[in-house]
Amino acid sequence: MYKLNDGREIPEIGFGTYKLKGHTGVQSIVSAINNGYRMLDTAYNYENEGTVGRAIAESFVKRSDLFVTSKLPGRYYQYDDAISALQESLYRSHLDYFDLYLLHWPNPKKGMYPEAWRALIDAQKFGLVKSIGVCNFLPEYLEKLQRDTGVLPAINQIELHPFFNEAKMRKYDADNGIITMDWSPLGRGSSVMSDPTLNELAVKYNKSVGQIILRWEYQLKTIPIPKSSKTSRQKENLNIFDFKISDTDMSQISLLTKTDGRVRDQDPAEYEEF
Ligand SMILES: NC(=O)c1ccc[n+]([C@@H]2O[C@H](COP(=O)([O-])OP(=O)(O)OC[C@H]3O[C@@H](n4cnc5c(N)ncnc54)[C@H](OP(=O)(O)O)[C@@H]3O)[C@@H](O)[C@H]2O)c1
Repeated sequence: MYKLNDGREIPEIGFGTYKLKGHTGVQSIVSAINNGYRMLDTAYNYENEGTVGRAIAESFVKRSDLFVTSKLPGRYYQYDDAISALQESLYRSHLDYFDLYLLHWPNPKKGMYPEAWRALIDAQKFGLVKSIGVCNFLPEYLEKLQRDTGVLPAINQIELHPFFNEAKMRKYDADNGIITMDWSPLGRGSSVMSDPTLNELAVKYNKSVGQIILRWEYQLKTIPIPKSSKTSRQKENLNIFDFKISDTDMSQISLLTKTDGRVRDQDPAEYEEF
């Protein structure tokens, strides 16, 4: 577990649930929980908070032993809308609280994220959420939150994988007591997994390419949240704590980053999602 800047604890790895929906989604998420994942990542915009809640109810694990994250969509960044969207998310998931609640995208051109952040600060005081954070935030947006409210996020969830390793953003987060969480940590089925260097390292360490990537992210002191619908891959992705990548090999992986390495070219300064 890592300690967040609000004193709470968070697991070192989580389970992504994007695209896991309905009955088959419930089966995949129940399998992930029963395979050992204790953190689940959902969002209002994934339209699967109900699926996630159902899986929690069907699993063998107590709610209090799980860490559930959801996210507020940009169309609800007005204060009252934010609080009611959060209440609706809790209702859909049949949960009394989220362990972590995030602003999903900054949408800086709209300028609404500071108001939404104030709603999250209050939601934490009301007990609707235990910890609060953001996704896809750049330093200038974090500085604005700090100036406006004096409260910095516990987590910044950003795109991070070997082709886009976010060295500067990671350093900024770490310097400011914010933990970086990695979305699309495996590059969402893109060419990352077939990279020759990663494949050579997989042979060297007798691990899969996915395990090499996730272990590298863990050793960077970030929190990967890989998604898989398949039980065998869920287990594989969790089995990264019995080996260590050498400093030289860590650096070799870090050299794979590219300026245009984003999976879908979603630059938070430009891309908007509501
Ligand atoms: N905050 C944001 O803006 C944001 C944006 C995107 C995603 N997210 C979150 O981050 C989570 C993870 O990102 P992601 O779903 O985009 O991508 P990902 O976890 O990087 O990759 C998932 C893909 O990789 C495959 N896969 C999983 N494990 C594998 C393995 N061991 N070997 C080979 N292939 C493997 C999966 O296929 P199978 O399912 O067939 O195994 C799936 O196609 C999401 O589910 C979501 O919760 C957040």
